[in-house]
Amino acid sequence: MILVLLGPPGAGKGTQAKVLEEKFGMRQISTGDILRANRRQGTVLGKEAQSYMDAGTLVPDDLIIRMMEPELASNGSKLLDGFPRTVAQADALDALLKKNGAEPATAILFDVDFDVLMERLTGRWTNPRTGRSYHDKFNPPKAAGVDDDDGGPLVQRDDDKAEAIKTRLDVYDKQTTPLIGYYEKSGRLTKIDALAPIEAVSKQLLDLLGAST
Ligand code: AP5
Repeated sequence: MILVLLGPPGAGKGTQAKVLEEKFGMRQISTGDILRANRRQGTVLGKEAQSYMDAGTLVPDDLIIRMMEPELASNGSKLLDGFPRTVAQADALDALLKKNGAEPATAILFDVDFDVLMERLTGRWTNPRTGRSYHDKFNPPKAAGVDDDDGGPLVQRDDDKAEAIKTRLDVYDKQTTPLIGYYEKSGRLTKIDALAPIEAVSKQLLDLLGAST
């Protein structure tokens, strides 16, 4: 099963991907985490992606598609967190899965009001090694600044600043929302209420996937 987690920045895609990974053993593939790892390692891709990410705009499609090809080559269930984000990426994903003889991807839309996203993102703390995220108010770690799981330091992301967040939401609205119709018209979209508290969102997903896995 290839599941696309679709939704705006801060909708909770990464938070819920960790829950589904633990529960169903599906592999989370987060394009944002892969790009940030490349930046830390100083790779060519990381350097190319840097200015786009800091500004909150999208990294060009050709770079992202090339980066995702090897990630999608193996068998097994996958959670795609942050990909596709444009119609060109969705077309490339469909073509790649077809070429690999895999079933077409299905999408889950994290339906949420934009009003809550600024607070979710400015209060987020992330473990850069694992991508696990916490929130000052909605999901605080047991000890401030430290990951409950591996004791690693938690940091705030460079693009979680008000100006970049506004751009990311605008970019989502213009470039990613067409994917809602893309998956809907082929009967491949399910919506969940992502405005609910974290545990209630997890329950919706576990009910949904428990029934189909
Ligand atoms: P990426 O890392 O993918 O960021 P994003 O899409 O902006 O998504 P986020 O990680 O910000 O949000 P999320 O939905 O995972 O929220 P989370 O669960 O952490 O991309 C970063 C950049 O990389 C892009 O801007 C772009 O430049 C580039 N990029 C990546 N993929 C690309 C692609 N395919 N094409 C081109 N460029 C690409 O939750 C947020 C916070 O809210 C957390 O603190 C959490 O604890 C809290 N929270 C979660 N759920 C709830 C809830 N239900 N109630 C209350 N709080 C909650």
